[in-house]
Amino acid sequence: MKLLIQKGRLVDPVGGIGGVMDLLIEDGRLAVIGSDLRAPDAQVLDARGLTVCAGLVDMHVHLREPGFEYKEDIASGTAAAARGGFTSVACMPNTRPVIDTPEQVRWVLDRAGECCGVRVWPIGAVSMGERGEALTDAHALKEAGAPALSDDGVPVQDANLMRDALILAKRAGLTILSHCEDASMVRNYAVNEGRVSRTLGLPGRPAIAEELMVMRDAMLAEETGGAVHICHISTAGSVDIVRQFKKKGVAITCETCPQYFTLTEEEVLKQGSLARVNPPLRTRQDVEAIIEGLRDGTIDVIATDHAPHSAQEKARPLAEAPSGMVGLETALGVTLTALYHTGKMDLSDLLKKLTFHPACILRIPKGRLSLGGEADFTIFDLNQEWTVDPERFASKGRNTPFAGKRLKGKVKYTIVGGKIVYQDEGGR
Ligand code: DOR
Ligand code: ZN
Ligand code: ZN
Repeated sequence: MKLLIQKGRLVDPVGGIGGVMDLLIEDGRLAVIGSDLRAPDAQVLDARGLTVCAGLVDMHVHLREPGFEYKEDIASGTAAAARGGFTSVACMPNTRPVIDTPEQVRWVLDRAGECCGVRVWPIGAVSMGERGEALTDAHALKEAGAPALSDDGVPVQDANLMRDALILAKRAGLTILSHCEDASMVRNYAVNEGRVSRTLGLPGRPAIAEELMVMRDAMLAEETGGAVHICHISTAGSVDIVRQFKKKGVAITCETCPQYFTLTEEEVLKQGSLARVNPPLRTRQDVEAIIEGLRDGTIDVIATDHAPHSAQEKARPLAEAPSGMVGLETALGVTLTALYHTGKMDLSDLLKKLTFHPACILRIPKGRLSLGGEADFTIFDLNQEWTVDPERFASKGRNTPFAGKRLKGKVKYTIVGGKIVYQDEGGR
């Protein structure tokens, strides 16, 4: 089986190969990069006018299976990933049961093997049942295939447990992905503490609740030498803390999500529970600081925190609706529209945060072009405009605050191991 990707504009931030190129894929692997390649027996993909890059890696998604298949399952979630241009996704363990044993990790891998082809990397829990009491066996989870550990959704509150977790994760060669919010301060509150919470007369989740935990984890990473990755950073203060600890050489990395560099808390007034997410949407100043953090390299990764919920759940009143928004099928478009087409970031820097950086943090051999390596590619039209229509999502979740938004930049093909797992209806 051969596939020839012809005359696409190759962007390769790591190896530095650029310009209009042909790629020849043989037996699922990248065999040749060059100009005017000939392969009479190959299937030809005409990529003229399109951008070709290493397959996108989303290091933070919720696939909901096992236990919450009415929200999403591995088949629908990976189909959504393919539609969004992601060739690898790391899924969070807050399922039912929680992914806290090697058997559970293998179960997710087996289920994923039966789906559309997007690679699934099951993150193991930090604590058994995500209860924040007893630690999981980091070494065994790693052996089974977990690329990292996280108690996302119900983050570790006990500092001593987190300290032990970092030490053991370090020994196992794993990074801990930390959802930073102090539970005593955020409770089950729906929105940021500030102007909007006051307008609505609701208690809010203060920025300091996130920043205290970012500081705690940064200090614990410094003290233990363990690697911590801060999930979905949302405040200016968090960006500052990570910036300072990186300067000191501490093993800390972080991600943000498209909603945190495009939307503010005001969105809750317009969209209600569709704009409810943990951590919450913040202020204009926070959005500006997140963009600066992306520009100066403090923020390593753009992940989606794809968190599907059913329409019935999201129809509950704001204070009772679950938190989270889907993101797989809009992430690239929102990112290109907000950061590239505005001139805030160049394409190469931006793609690194969607490919190579998350792969490095997960310690998986992905996110870069490699001759002889598995042929995972994303091909997109940098300039095609389109309107977000949740009815067309492959995800079961329609809970996006970007419905009806005009975006510039559209995924055309997603290729995993040399196989086209998604193709935009228009062909190009
Ligand atoms: O908004 C969120 N939704 N934040 C989380 O940490 C968990 C996620 C979910 O699982 O729905
Ligand atoms: Zn989270
Ligand atoms: Zn999450």
